[in-house]
Amino acid sequence: MRRPLIAGNWKLNLGPGAAAALAVYLRDALTDEDAVDVVVFPTALAIGAVAAELDGSGVGVGVQEIAAIASGAMTGANSAVMAREAGCTWLLTGHSERRQHFAETDAGVGAKAKAGLAAGLYPIVCVGETLAERKAGRVDEVTQRQLAAALAPLTPDEVALVTIAYEPVWAIGTGETASPEQAQEVHAALRAWLRAHHPRVAETLRILYGGSVKADNARSLLGSPDIDGALVGGASLRVGDFTDIIAAAR
Ligand code: 13P
Repeated sequence: MRRPLIAGNWKLNLGPGAAAALAVYLRDALTDEDAVDVVVFPTALAIGAVAAELDGSGVGVGVQEIAAIASGAMTGANSAVMAREAGCTWLLTGHSERRQHFAETDAGVGAKAKAGLAAGLYPIVCVGETLAERKAGRVDEVTQRQLAAALAPLTPDEVALVTIAYEPVWAIGTGETASPEQAQEVHAALRAWLRAHHPRVAETLRILYGGSVKADNARSLLGSPDIDGALVGGASLRVGDFTDIIAAAR
């Protein structure tokens, strides 16, 4: 049985003060959370403040992006080692906004997953097709290519620590959600790919769905057999909505 994971991607929202305040609301709202894993991804500048509030709460903190190296001449970057020191235990990598706006490559995602694991972070590897790719019937080809590249540098033991997030690009921030049937179809295909290439962990790796997940659609999405949680953007910024999504996962 896969334990549900609900992740809140705060993207480029909330400075340290506002992020810490949201973390306090969340911590106080989730007093007895034992059936669902919960993690939030603040901006890098707010990680310290959020981690201080969530320390000992059971809610994990993650970093939205890292460089693939631990330190060095890479102005503006953050590393997995530093994120771990600042209080993170999770890493997001391969988000479509990074692929689109920051020229992230399939190979880069794998290198960052590897660096995150080496530093003690659990990577959430994001995959997903654009609307044009969906219309061209290329959903499985694109998502499986992205997943294969992300897992390629990892040892079998490292693969076992990965979480996958399927986020169709056309459903992110648009209010247009994949139907539970559309999402389940892709999740099942990803799990079939895992059975073929990583059989040891195919039944245990979690595959999250992301893309306009809200309190009112979470239950039907999370009811699908291969949807093991959610990666939530906009709705994770409102504590009531986020806790309703967590409740739907129980
Ligand atoms: P929205 O929930 O705002 O559509 O964002 C999804 C997402 O990109 C989470 O990583």
